[in-house]
Amino acid sequence: GTGLDALIKGKGKKYVGFCADSGLLSNAQNAAILQAESGQLTPENSMKWQSIEPSQNSFSYGGADTLVNWAVSNNKIIRGHTFVWHSQLPSWVSNINNKATLTTVIQNHINAVAGRYKGKIYAWDVANEVFNDDGTRRSSVFSNVFGDWTFLDVAFRAARAADPAAKLCLNDYNLDYSGAKLTNFVQLVKDLIARGVPIDCVGTQSHLVVGNGAIPSFKTTLDSLASTGLEVQITELDIRTNSSPSSAQISQQVRDYTSVVSACMKTAACSGITVWGVSDKDSWVPQTFSGQGYALLWDNNYQKKQAYNGFVTGI
Ligand code: XIL
Repeated sequence: GTGLDALIKGKGKKYVGFCADSGLLSNAQNAAILQAESGQLTPENSMKWQSIEPSQNSFSYGGADTLVNWAVSNNKIIRGHTFVWHSQLPSWVSNINNKATLTTVIQNHINAVAGRYKGKIYAWDVANEVFNDDGTRRSSVFSNVFGDWTFLDVAFRAARAADPAAKLCLNDYNLDYSGAKLTNFVQLVKDLIARGVPIDCVGTQSHLVVGNGAIPSFKTTLDSLASTGLEVQITELDIRTNSSPSSAQISQQVRDYTSVVSACMKTAACSGITVWGVSDKDSWVPQTFSGQGYALLWDNNYQKKQAYNGFVTGI
């Protein structure tokens, strides 16, 4: 094939993938692009706690099953996303104030979800966004009730027990700037490894802003993550501009996609790249970052942008 996934596999990497869920899989233009360009899918929302266990022991697998079945029948590997996360978390979990109860709840949730998809998941984001931007531990029901990092031990051990073949990842954002957040993230991973917690990979979301000074040195970030000795995955790549980008931003975005992809290519531990959506029309960026958009590789009409060529150049 000539799509991004085929190109990157031809250069020894494992995959290029995208996020999706049932709506985008039944969108013919979007699905055709996934068929041609993707080797991997991440459920954009359907496996989040709020989606899949909205009330205790009441599991709602419809959306996640749709994604998994589509991926399996179309020969795409899957990144499971995500178990322990402060966001899109139902209040029945965030209201728990007792460590024994929360431990059981985490174990039960992971056992059920990882167990249902056992053998079908390439990697799980076992925990997501556990740091603040200043590198301190983020406040969440998990960190607050445990009072330390050991909620991660519980989650990773439960995931390993439920699906021994899945790679287990710690995922976060804004690791791109070689600051305290990256330093402390890497140290936490090393600490987890040192105390025998089963962890196999680190994910860097890579929600980037066009022209940011850290992008040309993205390999430095990947090298720091690779210093853990684990597999490194770029898990949610997008590079946003103003909603109506200038021609300078458009050409900068091309160069920035090249820089990020080429940094992965030059980093042995970097196994694959997931882009957080196909078309700008369906991107999370405009809803989340006011006045910004244009972050992906296909335009509002599902036509390839110059950014796509920038990605190809990086491979
Ligand atoms: C986003 C989805 O793209 C949106 O549809 C949803 O409304 C909010 O979550 N970091 C993550 C992803 O780990 O799960 C988020 O996805 C984007 C930021």
